[in-house]
Amino acid sequence: EQIKKGSYDHFMQKEIHEQPHSLTTTMRGRLKDGGVLLGGLKEHLKTIRRCRRVVFIGCGTSYNAALAARPFVEELTGIPVTMEVASDLLDRQGPIYREDTAVFVSQSGETADTLLALDYALENGALCVGITNTVGSTLSRKTHCGVHINAGCEIGVASTKAYTSQIVAMAMMALAIGSDQISTQARRNAIISGLTSLPSCVSGVLKLDAEMKELASSLIDSESLLVFGRGYNYATALEGALKVKEVALMHSEGMLAGEMKHGPLALVDENLPIIVIATRDACFSKQQSVIQQLLSRKGRLVVMCSKGDASAVCPNGSCRVIEVPGVADCLQPVINIIPLQLLAYHLTVLRGFDVDQPRNLAKSVTTQ
Ligand code: G6P
Repeated sequence: EQIKKGSYDHFMQKEIHEQPHSLTTTMRGRLKDGGVLLGGLKEHLKTIRRCRRVVFIGCGTSYNAALAARPFVEELTGIPVTMEVASDLLDRQGPIYREDTAVFVSQSGETADTLLALDYALENGALCVGITNTVGSTLSRKTHCGVHINAGCEIGVASTKAYTSQIVAMAMMALAIGSDQISTQARRNAIISGLTSLPSCVSGVLKLDAEMKELASSLIDSESLLVFGRGYNYATALEGALKVKEVALMHSEGMLAGEMKHGPLALVDENLPIIVIATRDACFSKQQSVIQQLLSRKGRLVVMCSKGDASAVCPNGSCRVIEVPGVADCLQPVINIIPLQLLAYHLTVLRGFDVDQPRNLAKSVTTQ
């Protein structure tokens, strides 16, 4: 049943709309009595709490999910987190130590670069944790411990529901590692209640489908699309741009808004469409100022903001606005990626490309 499209035209579309359910299964039985229970990590939590740093390792969308998790893992655990694209870690033979916790993120659990990086980290004596959707995969067998994301089988080459479930699995991991800290108890409770309400918020944001189709039709002939994000939503910018690139075959780049003045600003004119993610969090006023700077250079803007914030992000109505429901700030990337997944999907269909099998790409890259 799971491998059928049902009433949907494409697997990617089905998997996008399935997210309220896939997120529910990711969390099922794991949020207990105001805490988090992750059977696959339990025995190793003490070692992880004592480690010198957490190193996140992955490729493609899985790397982006880890990047989305980085801020809250740092916040809830107090452990420094560094990021590694698997192939780059191998190219550099970057330092990995016995005192490190290396967290490998992979939907398939079979990506060659990620598995080679795992062998490398094992040789260097790090504690190796796997975050994967595939029970029995090489990644889940070779790591010391881990979390299955339980998102259900993902068929579309462009990863959608696995991305959001990976973020939620890593949120639960961060809550479990940080659960011995009294000072962050209130924050942890707020995140747990945010997790509980996440599936219904995702159902809410999926109602933007028609609006995103309409936005896609206005972008269909664009040659390029930029996406600006920062803080919790830097990863959303990278992942949104990756979706557009890989399925709609349109050049697209995700950019750190804080770097705008150091190069990207030169590209801004009235033709290049730019999506700015400006939902409510500690970076909100900085994003308001980014929007002002882009508008003063006649930028063609689409701003994603929290419900009710349209006039706060775009006072004179000179940009298009996408309003999304708000959740706990660190979980907002789970909501914010969904309109961008829908946009990439509709752009692909409207441009007449293959949604589930984009040219030149494979679901799982098992060679180096
Ligand atoms: C391929 C797929 C991507 C995926 C990446 C990592 O490039 O096309 O969608 O994000 O591999 O795959 P993994 O299974 O390790 O998450």
